[in-house]
Amino acid sequence: MCGVVAVLGKENASQLVIEGLKKLEYRGYDSAGITSVSQGLLQTIKSEGKLLNLIGKLDKSTKEKLYFDNSIALGHTRWATHGNVSFENAHPLTSENKIAVVHNGIIENFEILKKELISLGYNFRSMTDTEVLPHLFMKYIKMGNDLLEAGRLVLKDIKGAFAFVAMSVDFPNQLFVSRNSSPLAIGLGDNANFIGSDAHSIDHLTQKIIYLEDGDHALVKINKISIFDKNFKKVSRKIINIQAEIGLITKGGYKHFMEKEIFEQPVVLPQTTSSFIKNNSEITIDLDKLGFKNKNSLIICAAGTSYYAGIVGKYWIEQIADIPVIVDLASEYRYRKPSIFGQNSILVISQSGESLDTLMALRYAKELGLKTNAIVNVEGSTIDREVDYSLYSKVGPEIGVASTKSFTSQLVILFLIAVSLGKKFNSLTLTQMRKKCQLINMLPSAIAKMLEKENQIKLIAQNIKNSKSVIFLGRGLLYPLALEGALKLKEISYIHAEGFAAGEMKHGPIALIEDDVPVIMFLVSDGNEDKAISNLQEAYSRGAKIILIADKKCIDKATFAHFTVEIAEFENEFKSLLSPLLMSVPAQLLAYHVAKERGTDVDQPRNLAKSVTVE
Ligand code: G6P
Repeated sequence: MCGVVAVLGKENASQLVIEGLKKLEYRGYDSAGITSVSQGLLQTIKSEGKLLNLIGKLDKSTKEKLYFDNSIALGHTRWATHGNVSFENAHPLTSENKIAVVHNGIIENFEILKKELISLGYNFRSMTDTEVLPHLFMKYIKMGNDLLEAGRLVLKDIKGAFAFVAMSVDFPNQLFVSRNSSPLAIGLGDNANFIGSDAHSIDHLTQKIIYLEDGDHALVKINKISIFDKNFKKVSRKIINIQAEIGLITKGGYKHFMEKEIFEQPVVLPQTTSSFIKNNSEITIDLDKLGFKNKNSLIICAAGTSYYAGIVGKYWIEQIADIPVIVDLASEYRYRKPSIFGQNSILVISQSGESLDTLMALRYAKELGLKTNAIVNVEGSTIDREVDYSLYSKVGPEIGVASTKSFTSQLVILFLIAVSLGKKFNSLTLTQMRKKCQLINMLPSAIAKMLEKENQIKLIAQNIKNSKSVIFLGRGLLYPLALEGALKLKEISYIHAEGFAAGEMKHGPIALIEDDVPVIMFLVSDGNEDKAISNLQEAYSRGAKIILIADKKCIDKATFAHFTVEIAEFENEFKSLLSPLLMSVPAQLLAYHVAKERGTDVDQPRNLAKSVTVE
């Protein structure tokens, strides 16, 4: 999703902005641009596609001395919302070549503002909502306001979710910044200051960060930052010291970040478990903080992969702790007037901690009077900062857009919540709880064994790479995995894929089966496997290409399968209870290898963003 970086007070500001934009690339974008000031004039370079295109143009202009000695620059990676991917719609957007603005989010009332500005003679060159911002700044500056006053008047005019940075040639060495729901960080340097969509985008420049709070705006000068809250009252915000994430941009010898992130699961998941399990079997999750002083039901909200983790969580919490759980798509929650009967708290799940749908669901739940909790990977993210209690995934930065290690870490935390609740409310004895902790401690080595199946998965990937459509089936705890397997595949290979509860096939989806349509099932023998195998048989009888990734017992029963991958033998309770964690690995590897076979952009798939900061 859109990324913003600005540098004020450092030589070669444009190059430093480009370094920052590179660190935001993983979020997903489709065009980029940069503006600096040279000899009192704005110089803007933009290009469609990847940053490399922009860098090529910038290098050329540097040779032509256009950008020599600039000490102020702002840059942007754009993920198209209003207006297609084009040079004109790329940011920065300017007014009369005197004001430049970069923006992340959506100005919801832009159409009305645009009409008014057009009637005042402003010329719009893009289809974006953003372009109203530079023109509004221009309008107010022409009326005699300074940059701060103009910015405040702009804020009074606009509605929506946004984070933006504006600069004007009339106010050299100043930046006006503001945030409302979209993230924005200010970095403090020596006689220099920096702005970024996240702290990491400017951690090559400083480790001192201020996160603006919602509704804040600020005037940033080389050696002074003045911050104001939504009532325009001057405020001071905490300075946080961050650690530069040096390892972040290395692939560690792997071809893609996604591949690295899949293979590092046996190493990073112990970081998740060890932060919640002490002395091998004491779970340290604070259930009171989580809203469970007493037995209540729970609402879980999330988007995408995190939503599917939520469904697995529901199954575990209901099965292990006998606590009813509702799982809702974050984008639906606040618009459907949900009942909170019997609930005391909400648990949101978000790798990035920035998904706007999830943030909005969380804020709505707060308004309804619920306690708020989150499972997040990015500490210091907006969701982390706004909830009452955060449980951290602790798996390190995830760069590939398709979530892998974050998904499995979310599952680990959900499992531990279920076990901890089970003990507190007496569905589990102390011995049973300890046994479950032992099971989760066995997970890293089991995942390593699942990774050994990569070559067999590759063969399946080669076989299905040209399929038009792929169906994933699952029952019980593996039903959400069917949904996740399908999402992973469509996200990065662009093959149409759907996941269904296996028993639902006969109620409609079976009409989709025709000769050679791959039907993929992840299965373990848990006492209920026969039903799933019958569902698979129904697809086989109609010509589907059957792919079964399962333990020996299931494979022996499904003799009709065209492709099988036999997983290692694990203890029965481990295998059945933790099956979603085990089967995440083949689901991830399959999507990865199909995408690689098809030559798609695995880490930054088209149209997708890692951090979705629009609703
Ligand atoms: C985007 C990504 C998905 C991800 C979802 C939720 O849509 O493309 O892969 O699962 O966001 O992200 P979050 O950071 O909230 O977990």
